Amino acid sequence: MPTLAIIGAQWGDEGKGKITDYLAEDSDAVVRFQGGNNAGHTIVIGDNVFKLHLLPSGVLREGKLAIIGNGVVVNMDDMAEEIKQITDAGLSIDGLRISDRAHLIQNYHKKLDGAEEIYRGKNSVGTTKKGIGPTYQDKIARYGFRAGDILEPELVREKAEFILPMKKDLLKMMHAEECQCTVEKFEDKFKRWGETFGKYVCDTSVLINDMIDEGKNILFEGAQGAMLDIDHGTYPYVTSSSTVGGGICSGSGVAPNRIDNVVGCLKAYTTRVGEGPFVTELEGEAEEELQKKGGEFGVTTGRGRRCGWLDLVVAEHAARLCGFTHWAITKLDVLNDYDKIYVCTGYDVDGKVLKHFPASLSKLEKAKPIYKEFDGWDSWDDSEKIIKDGYDALPKNMRTYIEFIEEYTKIPASIISIGPKRSETIDRFGKWF
Ligand code: IMP
Repeated sequence: MPTLAIIGAQWGDEGKGKITDYLAEDSDAVVRFQGGNNAGHTIVIGDNVFKLHLLPSGVLREGKLAIIGNGVVVNMDDMAEEIKQITDAGLSIDGLRISDRAHLIQNYHKKLDGAEEIYRGKNSVGTTKKGIGPTYQDKIARYGFRAGDILEPELVREKAEFILPMKKDLLKMMHAEECQCTVEKFEDKFKRWGETFGKYVCDTSVLINDMIDEGKNILFEGAQGAMLDIDHGTYPYVTSSSTVGGGICSGSGVAPNRIDNVVGCLKAYTTRVGEGPFVTELEGEAEEELQKKGGEFGVTTGRGRRCGWLDLVVAEHAARLCGFTHWAITKLDVLNDYDKIYVCTGYDVDGKVLKHFPASLSKLEKAKPIYKEFDGWDSWDDSEKIIKDGYDALPKNMRTYIEFIEEYTKIPASIISIGPKRSETIDRFGKWF
């Protein structure tokens, strides 16, 4: 079956952008199924640098469809800016498709996101303030606007007449910035969006399933990572969507038996943005060193990411929830020149060893990582030669590190990434579709 998914195995920022771009080469469509413009990756094509937050990576490749599934939340105005970046560079976005069931982020959602964070005080989640959480709240509460509404703007008024006063009152109560929107302005906005983006809106579940029936190659592109999943992540320090395997199905309208392979993108160490538990987090200079070596600063927020050693308790949790059939291990080169490297294989909580990631925040707070020590490896001068000669040309200690991950998780490390460039990739599997 020609379907493949890629999902981050940690807290996002695993280097999925590069791997997605690599895997997208042989795909006919790239589908996003959750999240919104809280994600971020940079793609370099020739002299052009594109910073994408919402649009699937495939949008930059001619002849492919870039599909925004029903599980995604869409900010139409921010999307317009992303599209402008692309069209200004002379590229087309003809392949864009947006699910008519995808929910729309409104300005009041962004304001509410900020206000909620202030109320949470020291318990703040550290959201991207893009309005992601409040938009999903409205979806579940059954008063969200959907992309299909831009095709029928005349029907928006009736909904806006009860939703807008409710949001205005809510913002006032929360001492947040006022919402200036009127029902008329709202209706106009939907009309404008309809004129600009209406042609891209359709039933993407039918589209994707038809493509699968025709034997076309579909790549599902996860955003954020398994540990930020609303159910299985480090709740409440999570995002508001389903980032694990099941999210592919609910977020794109594709049944579970239609997903073939799932690649888990695993960074060779761990990072997280925002608040929340992080058992293997480093401190002080050690953290700064890894942050600097790995260039760990957010594309969406610019924030420095928290950094620590690889945690295989996390990897096991993600693999179980996502059904990974392969690993893509990224940023291994960032660990070059360390004398010793550590991998966490369990948590010590009050003298008891945990092998599975617990739900309890208090357990996670007390958890002490149980580390296995590895000898480091030196950096190399000639990446090209390593790429040409393949896996066996990698430093021996790096291979020992990779093989330990494979053995522990029982998942093959099929893609090894040793640099930011597309070419700096060792593919041990090859036939993805
Ligand atoms: P939200 O998704 O903006 O609601 O933020 C919730 C949490 O998810 C925060 O800790 C964010 O930093 C984190 N988050 C959201 N998107 C990403 C991402 O693409 N990479 C890493 N962390 C993310």
